[in-house]
Amino acid sequence: MSNRPSIWPYPALIAHRGAGKQAPENTLAAIRTGNSYGYKMMEYDVKLSHDQVAILLHDDDISRTSNSQGLAAELTLKELANIDFGAWHSDPFAGEPIATLSSIAAYTLANGIHSNIEIKPHTGLEAVTGAEVSRLAQKLWSGASLPPLLSSFSEVALEAAQKTAPNLPRALLIAKELPDNWQERVQRLGCIGLNLNNRYTTQAIVQQIIDASFTLAVWTVNDAARIQELRNWGCHAVFTDEVHSISPAAFNEYSIQSHASPL
Ligand code: G3P
Ligand code: MG
Repeated sequence: MSNRPSIWPYPALIAHRGAGKQAPENTLAAIRTGNSYGYKMMEYDVKLSHDQVAILLHDDDISRTSNSQGLAAELTLKELANIDFGAWHSDPFAGEPIATLSSIAAYTLANGIHSNIEIKPHTGLEAVTGAEVSRLAQKLWSGASLPPLLSSFSEVALEAAQKTAPNLPRALLIAKELPDNWQERVQRLGCIGLNLNNRYTTQAIVQQIIDASFTLAVWTVNDAARIQELRNWGCHAVFTDEVHSISPAAFNEYSIQSHASPL
């Protein structure tokens, strides 16, 4: 292994949606839970409320992860603050409030936790969400040891983030097969790399990305042997839900080296 600095300065194991299975996904409770299991990097999904506040939420509609219903993009933060985002998961989390990006920044920064902010725009709000989330992230993380990694399936959102906060690192999320023109797309968006779906990730694909000196993180892997296999192939990081049974310490011991410049 060479002495070149790694292009991936973050931990190798990332808690998906916070600890999104052990606790209600994308809430402060989920992130606290991930932290309690030793996870020092969290992925969470961010979109905008009706009054343009960056909030943590996966779906456009709040019905799956709350005791209410409706589109988050049609509800103000004040309205969302009256809704329970924890009881749907289990009784101990009843009353868990919606998380804002600001509140999560405060908690993660105070606890030495790194962030992958997945920009998950409500359909039709890609550009405004990419711009606002990156603007706020730049402000909130201005004194941080490492910036948050921004990622999105939406190239429009990533383009807006690039324009608004060009110095924040970005990764392109790919839902299914890696397209032939991936390198052109990643370069156009000024991304440091790709976040790929585990189901479509082969050793040849990993090799291709690593050889081109881009970062690679793979989601969502809940099997320790598969995580080890991906790491052995050269993946920089893996997202997991299995925070209670897979220790990040086992996968952080070595870092993958590459030819690209560090962040
Ligand atoms: O960012 C990785 C992963 O979270 C993407 O899929 O649907 O869980 O947000 P999803
Ligand atoms: Mg996500």
